[in-house]
Amino acid sequence: MYVDTHCHLHDQKFEDLNAVVEEYSKSGVSVAIDMGCCAKTSKIGKDLAEKFSSVYFASGCHPSDSNGFDDNERQEIIDLADHPKCVAIGEIGLDYYWEPYDKEKQIQCFIDQLSIAKYKKLPVSIHSRNATEDMLKILKVNKDKLVYGGVLHCFSGSVETANELLKLGLYISFAGPLTFKNANRLLDVAKFVPEDRCLTETDSPYLAPHPLRGTLNTPKNVPIITATLASIKGKDTLEVAKIIKTNAENLFTKLIKAK
Ligand code: NI
Repeated sequence: MYVDTHCHLHDQKFEDLNAVVEEYSKSGVSVAIDMGCCAKTSKIGKDLAEKFSSVYFASGCHPSDSNGFDDNERQEIIDLADHPKCVAIGEIGLDYYWEPYDKEKQIQCFIDQLSIAKYKKLPVSIHSRNATEDMLKILKVNKDKLVYGGVLHCFSGSVETANELLKLGLYISFAGPLTFKNANRLLDVAKFVPEDRCLTETDSPYLAPHPLRGTLNTPKNVPIITATLASIKGKDTLEVAKIIKTNAENLFTKLIKAK
């Protein structure tokens, strides 16, 4: 029923994945999409997707790994995209938070992967941190590469930014920060974004939702984020979970084909 559209099960913080998958399945989570950060982690995502029926994966190079994005890396990411359980190119984007960073390299890596997504007929999962202006500019200029859609993951921006992204046809994904006590601005965004454009995620193993902050985050926590979104929308949690699942299937169309 619940869908975690962005997690990192490949992360070394997860020691016993059999237990993690069993636990989130018991919590009603039926889909977890493992987001690649480089070719190596995308490949681990593929292996996990082959092992666990509820796991799907995305192939991509994270902006903080863009220095390693050479021809080999690029080709591996393209090849992985053909896998029946590879539902997106991601995570890709811009990160001007973690220093040092190479803006030019990040932008080139990002735009190149937007092209790969179009070529492979896949949506994109986008990461944006401290980079709103460049992000919006690049997405607008490269709108033709977004024909298969995309999502701004772990959204933390303003209502105005969300509106620009909605106009580009993108989805907005909410993660643990929506549940934090200081989430005032994000509450306004969650009220503003239409239900049929919302997604949920954990971004695990990081960013555990309230009241579990500081613990190891896993996809089992996505119902907490869904429940928070539902209460902001004044709706029943299961009703919202159903809408999110439909949204995820509309965006990540290979989810259905892979079943
Ligand atoms: Ni992530």
